[in-house]
Amino acid sequence: MDVSKAIRRRKSVRKYKADSVSKKHVDEIIEAARLAPSGNNAQPWRFVVVSDDKTKTLLKENNIFPQDFVYTSPTILVCCSDPKAYSKNLAGLDDDNKVRAVRDVSIASAFMVLRAEELGLSTCYVGWLKKEEIKPLLNIPKECVVPYILTLGYSDENPHETSRKDVSEILIKK
Ligand SMILES: Cc1cc2nc3c(=O)[nH]c(=O)nc-3n(C[C@H](O)[C@H](O)[C@H](O)COP(=O)(O)O)c2cc1C
Repeated sequence: MDVSKAIRRRKSVRKYKADSVSKKHVDEIIEAARLAPSGNNAQPWRFVVVSDDKTKTLLKENNIFPQDFVYTSPTILVCCSDPKAYSKNLAGLDDDNKVRAVRDVSIASAFMVLRAEELGLSTCYVGWLKKEEIKPLLNIPKECVVPYILTLGYSDENPHETSRKDVSEILIKK
């Protein structure tokens, strides 16, 4: 599948078949993130792959996600990023390191969702989660930010078309 097709096909999916996602596919998706560009090539992104029922139950018991569909997705990819990955703080010249960390993991995660699409898998970004409470449950270092997770699995719905702004609305006239 070419990139343009993956971009056009991708839609947020919130209902998944029970089929699990193979380790090979998860590895391919993590590999897409690994190859993404980042400021100073700092590669601040870190991921936790949650596919087992025991961990999903732990997350549910702690009410980490208000939306139930997250627990029913076969795999949850917890997207984290470490502001300490940058050797210099360029505050004043560039964004601060926390913003840089979120910026870079977002590029990596965009690669992930497109690779997932190519593999016939579907995803949904979920920013609605208890971002501090999730850390100790999954051994995520305190200094990391967790801007969102991605659900991952085989779609069991035809997601509705979401609207997009017209090009004229997103181009700033200079
Ligand atoms: C950073 C980010 C956070 C999001 N958080 C949520 C969320 O918490 N729950 C949810 O159901 N969808 C969430 N979404 C999905 C958006 O609602 C969705 O991408 C948007 O409506 C466009 O639809 P589409 O992805 O199908 O094109 C999030 C998307 C992004 C990019």
